[in-house]
Amino acid sequence: MKQIMGVIGHPIKHTLSPLMHEAAYNALELNMAYLAFEVKPEDLDKAIHGIRALGLRGINVTIPHKVEVIPFLDEIDDLAKEIGAVNTIVNDNGRLMGYNTDGEGYLKSLLQCLTNDLKGMHVLIIGAGGASKAVALTLAKHGVKAMAICNRTIEKAEDLAKNCGKYVPSLSISLEEAEEQINDFDIIINTTSIGMINENELPISLKKLNKKKDIYFSDLIYTPFQTKLLLEGEKAGAKTLNGLDMFIYQGALAFERWTGHEAPINVMREAVTKHLRG
Ligand code: ATR
Repeated sequence: MKQIMGVIGHPIKHTLSPLMHEAAYNALELNMAYLAFEVKPEDLDKAIHGIRALGLRGINVTIPHKVEVIPFLDEIDDLAKEIGAVNTIVNDNGRLMGYNTDGEGYLKSLLQCLTNDLKGMHVLIIGAGGASKAVALTLAKHGVKAMAICNRTIEKAEDLAKNCGKYVPSLSISLEEAEEQINDFDIIINTTSIGMINENELPISLKKLNKKKDIYFSDLIYTPFQTKLLLEGEKAGAKTLNGLDMFIYQGALAFERWTGHEAPINVMREAVTKHLRG
């Protein structure tokens, strides 16, 4: 019998997950399908019970359900618990396990592009929302040299820096301090949506950037492919990483949990890039 996976979110119509996962099922000739389900917040509990009732094998969870879904699951893995958000549910004979593959997906994409050892790096994270928590905690647990977190709402940066501080030296700093200290960092990661809707916006000013060493600019956004942050970073000689590979790897990690097969990364990447190029 065909196994069914899917993604729940609201709104969900622009998701690229179905085409990415189905390309992988086709490549490996797996008898599986992946569907997008529009689920309103007030229907979340019914949707989760539906996973059990309908015997769906796995579900990705996206905005706005990643936090709210937690009480409806049977077990949450430690990293997802620490992040406080779930993006992948595995249904094992009616028992629903929650995971978070966002941070690990990001880490994989970063390790692919770095030429230096991540462990020696001083990281600046801009933003302190859900995506930031996944990325910051995963990098902290992996053991970077030190981390600074800045955010419009400083209290959220303070909370996150406190959590990351359990693993590596971590500070919350103001946006202005981040702009002043920009040359102290080896990697600058934007986790906010700035640069997505308004393509001319930067999350922080780069006026003080004065490149004297290898520096990486990374943005979790992949539409547009290159945000203003990445374009400006590139102009200044930085290496850049957009959010496309994070999206692909978070999907690949979910695929592997559901199917037990190694994910065909190149097939998944090609399906998504082909679609984005139109
Ligand atoms: P996600 O799950 O994508 O991380 P989120 O949890 O809503 O979404 O977090 C959004 C992040 O982008 C937050 O850090 C938010 O800052 P606040 O905590 O101050 O809200 C940041 N953000 C979004 N729009 C922003 C804007 N226009 N200016 C500054 N920061 C913004």
